Amino acid sequence: MAPPASEKPTDHDLNCLSIRELEVLARDRMDKQTRDYYNEGADSNTTLQENMTAYNKYRIRPRVLRDISMIDPSVTVFGHRNTIPMGVAPAAMQCLAHPDGELATARACAAKGIIMGLSSFSTTTLEDVRQASGDIPNVLQLYLFEEKEHSRKMIQRAKKAGYKAVLLTVDTPMIGRRNLEIRNQFKLPSNLKIANFTQNDDDNEHAIQQDEDKDEDDEKKPAPRRRSSKPASQDGDKRTLPTGPITFHTHAANPTLSWEESIPWLKQEAAPMEVWVKGVATGEDAELAIKHKVDGIVVSNHGGRQLNGALATLDALPEVVAAVKKRIPVHVDGGIRHGTDVFKALALGADFCWIGRPVLWGLAYKGQQGVELCLRLLIDEFRLCMGLAGVTKVQDISREYLAKIDRDGFTSRL
Ligand code: FNR
Ligand code: LAC
Repeated sequence: MAPPASEKPTDHDLNCLSIRELEVLARDRMDKQTRDYYNEGADSNTTLQENMTAYNKYRIRPRVLRDISMIDPSVTVFGHRNTIPMGVAPAAMQCLAHPDGELATARACAAKGIIMGLSSFSTTTLEDVRQASGDIPNVLQLYLFEEKEHSRKMIQRAKKAGYKAVLLTVDTPMIGRRNLEIRNQFKLPSNLKIANFTQNDDDNEHAIQQDEDKDEDDEKKPAPRRRSSKPASQDGDKRTLPTGPITFHTHAANPTLSWEESIPWLKQEAAPMEVWVKGVATGEDAELAIKHKVDGIVVSNHGGRQLNGALATLDALPEVVAAVKKRIPVHVDGGIRHGTDVFKALALGADFCWIGRPVLWGLAYKGQQGVELCLRLLIDEFRLCMGLAGVTKVQDISREYLAKIDRDGFTSRL
């Protein structure tokens, strides 16, 4: 009898047998601006690093002689049977890594049976991504703009296109301090655009985005009509909203977001899509999320790109899980680089994980094929981990399977 698809021996890419190797391969294939933008965290990168090293504080307690010949690593998420408990986190501007950008990611996810989150600031429209995803559902990451009308339009489009949920990013009331982005004077090359907002510009000047779109050659061309984008400003009691074409740097941050105002508004606009919050990192906020009736939580610190010095997500996870008490799903992202990391996060109570940078590295390495490779590595590693730990069903992964390591290297059970 042929083994099920998930058990077929993998055709290895001998140049790339781990996410670590993928990162190195990708590094040489990205221009400096893209590499720095994708890879850096905020300030001194402490949280970026700790998101990864937090996983080393745990070891797996494997059980043996359990007949693991039938392993099912799949889980149901957003009504879809996902190959493993892991999805692709929303990450902006994927055409920087490869010309096919988000379309390549969507196709790779569809090929591997993995759900994809799309960033508001994608370089491909949400409709095109939805189409490329086929039977695999999508969720849309949302920046709720101060000028709600922009968000309203986007939410309506996502609903019409068939998105299952919106993930409201809640860790960006201000944009974190990313020094390389500043030093490189990050700008989107003029052949790319922030695709979801081009239709929103009534005078169609969207292709010209002052702070992300300037080119040295522009100096030599006749000056196009430009509308520059300006961030919001506060003068005493008077608040001026961001103006001009929507860009990440001027429009994404929204310091006025609040549980009381933003969540009820969003729930009403987004229904019947689910509303999740992405960027919760404490038990207190998890309680508030439940009080305001969100459908799920993603424990996240934006891949260490926002508040440097914030808790690693794996360290924040147990308090969120304890506060939620299984009333709504709890997902986690940040620092996942191996299938055993997915296993550890689930053992600590997460229902599902998301990966950010590894997919961008896959894209930079080989477009769709590179993302498929990235997903395949993690799928194979997770499945192998389940088998060698003596678990055949995802719901059986629990704290029983973990030990923690103290400062002196001694281990104890959880
Ligand atoms: C992100 N992330 C992100 N999150 C979000 O809510 N909206 C966005 O547009 C983006 N864009 C984005 C761009 C890039 C280049 C990166 C690296 C990350 C954060 C992302 O969804 C996720 O939280 C982290 O990437 C998870 O951490 P790892 O897996 O990258 O360590
Ligand atoms: C970032 C944004 C786009 O982290 O969320 O760069």
